[in-house]
Amino acid sequence: MNERETRPEKGAEKVPVITIDGPSGSGKGTVSRLIASRLGWRFLDSGALYRLVALAALARRDDLADESKIAIVARELDVEFKLDSDAGEPQILLEGSAVGGEIRSETCGDAASRVAALPAVREALLARQRDFRALPGLVADGRDMGSVVFPDAALKIFLDASPEERAQRRYKQLKEKGMSANLAGLLDEIKLRDARDRNRSVAPLVPAVDAILVDSTHQGIDEVVTGILEAWSQRS
Ligand code: DC
Repeated sequence: MNERETRPEKGAEKVPVITIDGPSGSGKGTVSRLIASRLGWRFLDSGALYRLVALAALARRDDLADESKIAIVARELDVEFKLDSDAGEPQILLEGSAVGGEIRSETCGDAASRVAALPAVREALLARQRDFRALPGLVADGRDMGSVVFPDAALKIFLDASPEERAQRRYKQLKEKGMSANLAGLLDEIKLRDARDRNRSVAPLVPAVDAILVDSTHQGIDEVVTGILEAWSQRS
């Protein structure tokens, strides 16, 4: 970790941040959006940024292992998040075109996990992520929000669930969107992606030392949201 990664932006420390990190399917996306909506705060879906880099690189037929090339893609990414007033998914535009469905595919998720393992790509996305920090507050969803991007966050949550439960949730989500899905295949992919995200050399998926660990395997979304909001009201 270099000095820039640990230093908050000037003045930004006055803006409260709640970080919600964890593996895919832990429910952190839905939970983060609901918390942002309930508090009236901004929301950062950092996974979408890695997915967008992957999508742009795939479209250019770049080699996903070519670190300097993919870092340029990350730096030059022309992306816009059109925020919703409710807790729905914001519209995501890549070079002016909506890409919401495409970035959620398994192919794109797998490619995102590969480009996310490249240190220069993570470095290129760092300032872009920190730019989301604005009053009245930010809820940041990802893998390294509490450990690297916002180390001074006011509240850090690490949300986890068993791989089997996460595969089930993903299966249901894909079916609801009318996309094809195979449960056994999803479980294998989740385990593979977890291993890659947890074992990479930079910003691996690990709870920040001061994070509160929450296991959502047997908890519904509402229960998790209520628990986190309670933890926040006790801190603020
Ligand atoms: O949360 P997600 O499934 O949309 O993330 C896609 C990939 O991006 C995931 O495999 C890991 C990576 N990622 C990351 O390395 N760091 C983040 N802060 C967010 C996502």
